[in-house]
Amino acid sequence: MRIPRFELERWQSVWENFVELNVSESGVKPYTLRELLQDSSEPEQELGRLMDARLGYPQTDGSEALRARIAALYPGAETANVLVTCGCAEANFLVAWNLLSPGDEVIILQPNYMQIAGVAEACGATAHPLWLREELGWAPDLDEFRRMISPRTKLIAVCNPNNPTGAVLSGEMITGICDIAAQCGAWILADEVYCGAELEGDLTPTFWGRSERVICNAGMSKAYGLPGLRMGWIVAPAGQIEQFWSAKDYTTIGVSMLSHKLAEFALAPKQRERIFERTRQILRENYPTLRDWIRGHGTSLRHIPPRAGAIAWVGYTGSRKSEEIAEELRAKKRVLIVPGAHFGMEGFLRIGYGYDRQHLKDTLARVDEVMF
Ligand SMILES: Cc1ncc(COP(=O)(O)O)c(C=O)c1O
Repeated sequence: MRIPRFELERWQSVWENFVELNVSESGVKPYTLRELLQDSSEPEQELGRLMDARLGYPQTDGSEALRARIAALYPGAETANVLVTCGCAEANFLVAWNLLSPGDEVIILQPNYMQIAGVAEACGATAHPLWLREELGWAPDLDEFRRMISPRTKLIAVCNPNNPTGAVLSGEMITGICDIAAQCGAWILADEVYCGAELEGDLTPTFWGRSERVICNAGMSKAYGLPGLRMGWIVAPAGQIEQFWSAKDYTTIGVSMLSHKLAEFALAPKQRERIFERTRQILRENYPTLRDWIRGHGTSLRHIPPRAGAIAWVGYTGSRKSEEIAEELRAKKRVLIVPGAHFGMEGFLRIGYGYDRQHLKDTLARVDEVMF
């Protein structure tokens, strides 16, 4: 198995701890353990529970308690439909690795986090991008989608809310995607890791329950501000979960016991509500700074306001390569930004705004020095 380089993750892994200003992150400012527990009604008791947790192997598919909390987020799901994974990254890996064989075709709604594309290639499958259309508010053209399916289409990968655009698909669009997938018998893999990070309004509706061949992946790295827990999950039909669990014996076996305990705590309904409120507050507080900066550049910059996620997909005019801009920012200004090229699209930069306002203002001032 030869796996291609995952450009976005390499860029972040190598540099994120060696810059002054990092806007390559797509989630909100992570919690400290103190902040997380203090946010609860009984911080002392919670801390006590953590101190008393025996640091053995957890139940490797996830504790019953944790899987029950996760199942409760998906209408009609039960614990047998849930596998706990090491981040949404392991969830995505296990699904693609398990489902794809040489000769299979995958349709990926792009731009998208490029993990499925990379694993598909490593499995000998062929990935075809279905480009989301800016003029449709970063939604797909369903007629184009219909023309792309074939009996060999095994998997359709969608990220909703979308990374990098922050767009959310309408219910009608979700139905349309499910109908087309059903025509060719393909699985839908919906990466919903940004659900809960909506700036306004309701949570993004899940693909779960929209058709029989749906797999939903998510985790606590983005909307929950807990990427360091490395907590994710797969929600799928029980038979598929059995297979993914069995594949997990070869990857991480299980997620750490402390992460289990903290995730059980954070997913309790009241606590989850508090966490999402914090996330929204951060997003609402910071986004206007980014929006006003973009507007201030007239026709040189553009974006469609993100509905969710702490990211904006900012288009710029001119022919400069996005990686060249990102590298200059890194090397000369000690700023880490994500170039559009890492999503297969030139003329864009992904800017994370989930930290704090001053951090964002300082970053944008340095971007000005390089771009304008
Ligand atoms: C769409 C998407 N899926 C999965 C991941 C990986 O998430 P995790 O940190 O939960 O492994 C990311 C990280 O940026 C992402 O953007």
